[in-house]
Parts: sequence; structure tokens; C-alpha cells
Amino acid sequence: MLTPAMIDRLNHQINHEQYSSNLYLQMSAWCDHQGYTGSATFLREHAAEELKHMYKLFDYVCETGALALLAAVTAPPNQYASLGEVFKITYEHELKITHAINQLVAFSLSEEDFSTFQFLQWYVSEQHEEERLFKSILDKIAVIGLDGKGIYFLDKEIRKLSGQTSLG
Ligand code: FEO
Repeated sequence: MLTPAMIDRLNHQINHEQYSSNLYLQMSAWCDHQGYTGSATFLREHAAEELKHMYKLFDYVCETGALALLAAVTAPPNQYASLGEVFKITYEHELKITHAINQLVAFSLSEEDFSTFQFLQWYVSEQHEEERLFKSILDKIAVIGLDGKGIYFLDKEIRKLSGQTSLG
């Protein structure tokens, strides 16, 4: 059985994951509008991954007999200066999510809630993969660049990352 404080924090994380999904879906729309179809495909797939993260939390809260709560989701930005800015924001966003997960893990330990601690280990591993994935895109941008034909090849490279976005 979860404490009210633990339920409250898990419900907040549900909201974070929903926001992540909306953020990447909105970025996908922007990329599509700009003609960056590879990045649009990747980000749309990643938006679906974030929904899986949300449902996993939602199901866990429900399984413990607690009430999962859905809250209003802040609208994500819908204009970006460049493809480089899009992926700079994605990486920074994933660092924030990692911090949120780490805080949840620390809180579960402070509550001696070892069931939730165990459950959260999946997210710890997932965030490692998420950071690695988005950092790899920043590395590609640094090598290929955003000028001239570079952005065409970069967009094709990002499309190849589709389907490599989750632990399952
Ligand atoms: Fe749900 Fe990209 O972390």
C-alpha cells in the first residue's frame, strides 16, 4: 500500500510523462512542417514511447489500490529556431526527467517503500537509455552540422533511430 505522499509524487510523474509525449508530438509537427520528415517520424514514435511510460506508472498506481489522477498538461512550445534547437531541448528535457525519477527513487527509499523502489528501477534504466539516445543526436549534429546538405543527411540519420527508443 502506498502512502498519500508517494501516490501524489507518482501522479506528478504521470503528468511529466504525458507532457513529454505532447512535447515530442508537437516537435514532430514542427519538423514535418519544415520538411524534416526523418526527425518528424522519430519524434512521433518517441511521443508514443512516452505514453507507454505514462501508462506503466498509471497501471502501477492502480494496481496498488490507489487512485491515479490525470491533471492538466501544460502546452509545449510550438515554434523552434532550428532543428538544432529542437534536439537541444529534447536532451535538456530528458535530463530533467532523470532528475525527477531520481527524486522519486530517493523518496521511495526514505519511505521504506521497497515495492515502489523496485518498480522505479525500470525508469532508472530507461532514463540512462533516453539520455544516451538524445545525446547521440546532439553528437550527430556536432559532426554533420546544420548547414547546406548537412541538414538533409542529418535528418536521414535521425530517421534511422526510429524504433530504437525504449526498453520495451
Ligand atoms: Fe519518459 Fe523520455 O522519458
